[in-house]
Amino acid sequence: MSVVSIQDARKAFGGTEVLRGITLEVPRGEVVAIIGPSGGGKSTLLRCMTLLERLDGGSLSYGEVIAAEQGADGRTHYAKPDVLKQARGCFGLVFQNYNLFPHYTVLKNIMDAPLRVQKRPRAEVEAQARELIAKMGLAGCEDKVPCQLSGGQQQRVSIARALALNPEVLFFDEPTSALDPELTGEVLRVIKALAAEQMTMVVVTHEMGFAREVADRVVFMDGGVIVEEGPAAQVIDTPREQRTREFLARMDG
Ligand SMILES: Nc1ncnc2c1ncn2[C@@H]1O[C@H](COP(=O)(O)OP(=O)(O)OP(=O)(O)O)[C@@H](O)[C@H]1O
Ligand SMILES: [Mg+2]
Repeated sequence: MSVVSIQDARKAFGGTEVLRGITLEVPRGEVVAIIGPSGGGKSTLLRCMTLLERLDGGSLSYGEVIAAEQGADGRTHYAKPDVLKQARGCFGLVFQNYNLFPHYTVLKNIMDAPLRVQKRPRAEVEAQARELIAKMGLAGCEDKVPCQLSGGQQQRVSIARALALNPEVLFFDEPTSALDPELTGEVLRVIKALAAEQMTMVVVTHEMGFAREVADRVVFMDGGVIVEEGPAAQVIDTPREQRTREFLARMDG
């Protein structure tokens, strides 16, 4: 059973088709890496899967169907707000630029949504937040504000913040592309540790070595379509498609 499934996803901005029929299923416990050239639609796909953008066509399910084509116009229609709200509880999202609240401490950044959105008891939320801080290697940072942390530390806070909502699947959009190599390593190690715990994850990344090592499946997107997908080692070491080979050759050099 897939945690999330998107079928024949289509999306245009103005007259430009950015997603041209994308189908992706993510089974529980799987790590999917999405790779591909700039402008290929990777972020748009993630934004559609996380309800930050609406699909023009196709369907989206988190266990239950929350968006599907309906009616004579064949366009995608979304479920009622309470159903969408419930679906939002299924996933967490980690962006390139952390998006932490600058004036909140680390602890408060992590506790905010579980308290405010999920309305869980403070003691329980705080205990979990402190556990996550330790797990992310951030012990001692509880009372710091984001500007007192390195980029890698800030990104680990944003991963803790996403995990604090107990999501079924975590989405990452280039979580390390704002970091220098040293800090990249510490964030990738955290994601790798989550993979070892069978956390379901979809990671857009330019780190081919990481995708090869940590992902179960690699999806290569270009021009709004999935050009090729398969087991990570197969796609990265022995790509079938010419476009994938060209892209990987560019990433090497
Ligand atoms: N809100 C928007 N309005 C108009 N055009 C958009 C919008 N968002 C994305 N696009 C366009 O859609 C195309 C795909 O963009 P997207 O950000 O999904 O690509 P990407 O694969 O994530 O690229 P990158 O690797 O550079 O992050 C691009 O041509 C982009 O300019
Ligand atoms: Mg992008």
